[in-house]
Amino acid sequence: MFKRLPRSTAETVTILIEGDPVETAAGDTVAAAVLGAGLGAVRTTPVSGSPRSPYCLMGVCFDCLMEIDGVPNQQTCMIRVRDGMKVRRQHGAASVGGDGEDQ
Ligand code: FES
Repeated sequence: MFKRLPRSTAETVTILIEGDPVETAAGDTVAAAVLGAGLGAVRTTPVSGSPRSPYCLMGVCFDCLMEIDGVPNQQTCMIRVRDGMKVRRQHGAASVGGDGEDQ
């Protein structure tokens, strides 16, 4: 569905999405990396459990919330990838305390 524009850099990093290594361009946002990897839904809503994916890609809609390195509620369209970063889907509401446990 998504097609990458020509890269301005050949530098890549490897992140783990749901435990699987994914190579992506250095400087990508996490949201761009998960969309490019074809992840589909990155979270579910707390009330109905509806699937959501990154939408606005500019920090407005909050549909891109995921767990990054064990910290939930991370706005992935506003965070750049780092080598070795661990990214996981978020299911429903996550605790604000950042312990990674669903409520
Ligand atoms: S995609 Fe809308 S806030 Fe991240």
